[in-house]
This record gives sequence, C-alpha cells and structure tokens, in this order.
Amino acid sequence: MAAVHFLIIIIIIILIPFALSASETESLLRLKQSFTNADTSLSSWIPNVSPCGNWIGVVCFKNIITGLHLSDLGLSGKIDIDALMQIPGLRTISFVNNSFSGPMPEFNKLGAIKAIYLTDNQFSGPIPLEFFSQLGSLKKVWFSNNKFSGNIPDSLNELDFLKELHLENNEFSGKIPSLKQQLTSFSVSNNKLEGMIPENLVSYGANSFTGNEKLCGKPLDRACEYYTLPTEGEGRVYLTGFGIKVILILVFGVIAALVFLSLKNKNQPKHDFSIISRSNSSIHGDQVVQVHVPSSKNSKFSENKSKKGSSHGEHKSESKRASSTRGGSMGDLVMVNDEKGVFGLGDLMKAAAEVLGNGGLGSAYKAAMANGLSVVVKRMREMNKIGRDVFDAEMRQFGRIKHPNILTPLAYHYRREEKLFVTEYMPKGSLLYVLHGDRGTCHADLNWPTRLKIVKGIARGCGFLYTEFSNYELPHGNLKSSNIMLSDDYEPLLSEYAFYPLINPSAVQSMFAYKTSDYTEYQKVSQKTDVYCLGIIILEIITGKFPSQYHSNGKGGIDVVQWVFNAISERREEELIDPELKNDTNSLNKMLQLLQIGAACIESNPEQRITMKEAIRRIEEMQV
Ligand SMILES: *[C@@H]1O[C@H](CO)[C@@H](O)[C@H](O)[C@H]1NC(C)=O
Repeated sequence: MAAVHFLIIIIIIILIPFALSASETESLLRLKQSFTNADTSLSSWIPNVSPCGNWIGVVCFKNIITGLHLSDLGLSGKIDIDALMQIPGLRTISFVNNSFSGPMPEFNKLGAIKAIYLTDNQFSGPIPLEFFSQLGSLKKVWFSNNKFSGNIPDSLNELDFLKELHLENNEFSGKIPSLKQQLTSFSVSNNKLEGMIPENLVSYGANSFTGNEKLCGKPLDRACEYYTLPTEGEGRVYLTGFGIKVILILVFGVIAALVFLSLKNKNQPKHDFSIISRSNSSIHGDQVVQVHVPSSKNSKFSENKSKKGSSHGEHKSESKRASSTRGGSMGDLVMVNDEKGVFGLGDLMKAAAEVLGNGGLGSAYKAAMANGLSVVVKRMREMNKIGRDVFDAEMRQFGRIKHPNILTPLAYHYRREEKLFVTEYMPKGSLLYVLHGDRGTCHADLNWPTRLKIVKGIARGCGFLYTEFSNYELPHGNLKSSNIMLSDDYEPLLSEYAFYPLINPSAVQSMFAYKTSDYTEYQKVSQKTDVYCLGIIILEIITGKFPSQYHSNGKGGIDVVQWVFNAISERREEELIDPELKNDTNSLNKMLQLLQIGAACIESNPEQRITMKEAIRRIEEMQV
C-alpha cells in the first residue's frame, strides 16, 4: 500500500510541472501584477509552484485551469483581460466582494466564459450595448451591488444559455429589454429603471423588480400610466413627409441637444436624480435582506450565531475560538448554505448520532441536533488532493446550488486527512432504501405515477448537473440509488455529485462510474458513463430488483443489465416489470416505454449509447 502511494506521489511530482503550460502560470502572475494590492491576499501565487491545487482561488479540472474564484480578497486595481485571454480553459470568473472600480473590464473578449460574478464591487458606468454579443456561452451573470449605469444591454438577448441574471442594486436606467430566455434566477431590483415591465418577464415575480420608482405594470402593484411611447412613430412621419432639409435640421437638432445634455451633465452632476437616488437608497436599505447575495463569509455566520444569544450559542463561539487557536487544523464547520439555519461543530458533537452506512467514498451518520434539524454527515477520507482554499471555493459553489432535485450541502469541515459534508436529512431515506429496504410499510405508495415522478426528478437533476458542470468528465460520477434521497412527497434529490475533481486519483475507483463496463471493459469513463448509471436506476425502479452491479463483487442482487438484454431480445419484456406494478394494466405500455429508455441508457458501447440530453428528453416526454 505504502509503495503504491509513493508511486503516485512520484508520478504527481513528475507530471504536474509539465501538465500546465508555463504561459498560463505567467499569465496569472501578470494578472496578479495588474491588481494594486495583491501581495498579501495572493501570496500563494508564486512562480515555480503549480497554480492547480496550490494557488488560492485557482480552480482546476485535471490540471487545466477552469476557474478563478477570487472572492473576498480586498482586491482592487485593473483586471488584465489580455492575461486572462491566455488561459483557454477558463470558464468561470468570480471577483465577488472586492474593491474593483471603474468601467466594466473587457470580459467580452473571453468568448468561452460561462459565468461572471462581479457582485459587491464598485464598478460604474454603462456596459457597452454590444457587450454580450461575443459571449455566446454565458450562463451566469452576477453584476449586482455595483454602480453600473446606463441601459441594460439588449445584447443579453443573444445569450441562448443564460440562466441567471442579477443586476440588482445598481444604477441602470431606461427600459428593461424584453428577455426571451427562461431564467432560473433573475433580478433588476433597486435600479433606476422605468417604463412597463416586458410581458415575458412578468412571471419572475415582484421581488425581481422592486425599488425602481418608474417601473410599472405587472407584477408590480403600480399600473402603467399613459406616459410611454408616442414620439417614435411621429418622428418617422416627419422624415418621410418633408424631405432632406428636414432631415438635416433634425440631425443638427439632435447633435445640439446631445452637446447640450452632455455639458449639462458635466456641470451639474446628476442634479436631476438626487431626489430619486435618495429615496432609492432608503428602499435599498430595507430590501437588502431579501436579495440573494452569493458567497457569505464564515464570520457573518458566527455573528448570527452569537446573536441568537442562548447559552447554547455562547458555548459554540467559545468552542470555535478554542479550536481555531489550535493552529487552524481543526476549525469549525464552514456554512455554505444557511437556509436551514446555522449550526457549528459543537452542535453536531452534541447531537444524537446514528450510523447510516458505509458508502464507497466514506461513511455516513445521521445527527439530530438540539435545534430540531437533522442532518447527514458524510466523512470523506479520500479527498485530500486539493488545498483548503480551492476546496472552500468548490464547496461554496455547491452551497449556492438551488434546484428541486439537487441536495445542496449545508456545511463542510476541513481537515487535511478527512472532510465532513453536511446535508439535510431526508426522513424517507434513499431510493435504495425505499425500493429494497423495509418495503412492507411504504410500499403501497410506490405505484407507477410515483415511480415515474421519481425518474423524471432524477432526469431533471441530471439535466441540471450536465449544464452546471458541463465541462466535467463526470458531472455526477456516483449516480446510484443510495445517492438519491427522497423527500416526503417522493421528490428525488441527487447527492454526491460532481465530486470527481475533488477525489484522490487513487480513490476514484470507488465511484460507481468506475464499476460500470465503461471502465471495467473499455478503461474509459465519460459523460456517457453517467447515462449508463441512470439506466441502471431506471431498470432498478421498474423491476424493483436490486442490481448486482451495486456490489463490487457482483454477488447478490440481479444482473439487471443481462436480464433486460435477454428479455428484450426474446420479446418477453413484460416479465421485467415489478410484480407490484402489474395490476396497473392501463399503464403497462408506459412502463414498457420507460423500460426501453432504460435499455437505451445501458447500451454497452458508449459511442452508440444515447446522450444524457436525449435520455432526459425522452423521459420528459413521457406522460403518466
Ligand atoms: C468581503 O470581504 C472582506 C475581506 O476583504 C470580508 O472581511 C467581508 O466579510 C466580506 N463580506 C462578505 C459579505 O462576505
């Protein structure tokens, strides 16, 4: 064993310096140079040390730099975009909560970027109207809490993949462009926007628009008065009616007006707006609580904790202080999502604990805390390949995930030799348990509509992961029924997703993706491997049988893959259906249809297997 580790260390030492091109390291150092005060906050950014896993805020996937998460570092100065352009794998940039100011940097030169987070800075001035035209991959735009002004660029409409748009708490003015995308998260609240809210944005709800005094129409309570429009049409009549002289006069008029306005602006800066901005800022103050601001620092939570004021709370901050004096190797929990409340390591220690099981990557416990919240704590021992800062950045990214079919982690605890992951406890337990565990009691609920609902939910969760982690080789990687939790109404929630880049190379084989034929026969996992795993789950749900694939030695359970292939080739598919479902004869055809989808997912040649997208499409098409 020791010899194996030693070998891996040697391989890592030999390979790492060559894996990253020297020019990327240099580019990052140039970027650092462009900041004015990075000496302490980016002290880990030093030459001759590989950025991946060593430099704070540099996120890598397989030794390729994919993200820069430079939040909360007090940085200011310039952002050297030309340096960033030398990092071709870069997809995510976060400068959340720093002190950058001045006009919008030319991020639009980074054509492949998927997410830009600039929340909580001092950027100001208008965003060029064509800014988004070159950014076709962009999915997440967080520009909230800055001082951007001018119109919201229409070019946002060119972003086919846009999912999250946050422009709240700025000084944007003019009308809101009518955005055609279906966004999962959107706000333009607390700006100086005006006019009627475009019809296709109405569904986002009033909170997305409040704090804009001149905005009207649904979903706000303020009905639109007559003050919009007419001028445009009239102008055009003039032009066609009076010929070239009138055009010239108009052009002169416009120029004169522009010159006049710009002079006026210079001389009396923003005089006209002073009243609006004063009242705005009071609105701003009230509503800041409602605005979802990503990335919260630890300190904020410990503040919250002590605010609770019970002796309980005091004890917590005490224990935190005590532990942090021990050289930081044994810090408190770090909350990454506080929607279920805030707690500390002390609360976990005092909780009634129960062993839930031992999965491939570590063991899991249930902890019922005194505040009524029950959580699952997973101990991961095979996750020490990345440094604390990178780990923290990843966990915070997980903590921001909001999807009905994804289990968002609440907190983590970092120690070099092991990590703890804390998620909410679901009383129903995992799909594995509900299907094969103590079936006597809850069995009646597992009728066909419920099972289809579960499959659809899993597909939606996968769809989310395949968008969110689309550049990962295995966006889930450990997809199996024991990693799918069920809510009270049988809504499935995926867990243990997207761990692949975090797990030690020596331990990846304990992930379920590595137990499939993709790896055992072809020695190669890919995004299609998750599809295979999804297929196993579908078959597990329809047959009600425990797949032998889940046992590493193949003993116990039924080889669902072989069974399904045989039954289909011999045209006796009906035998596969769980006997418990068979009395629902009206739905038999649907069950067989889902069975076919499952079978397409376990096609043994990954090349011929359907893609995740196709699998999701076919599942979504199914009616109950
Ligand atoms: C913002 O960053 C500073 C450090 O530069 C930190 O002290 C502060 O807590 C951060 N604020 C939030 C809301 O995270």
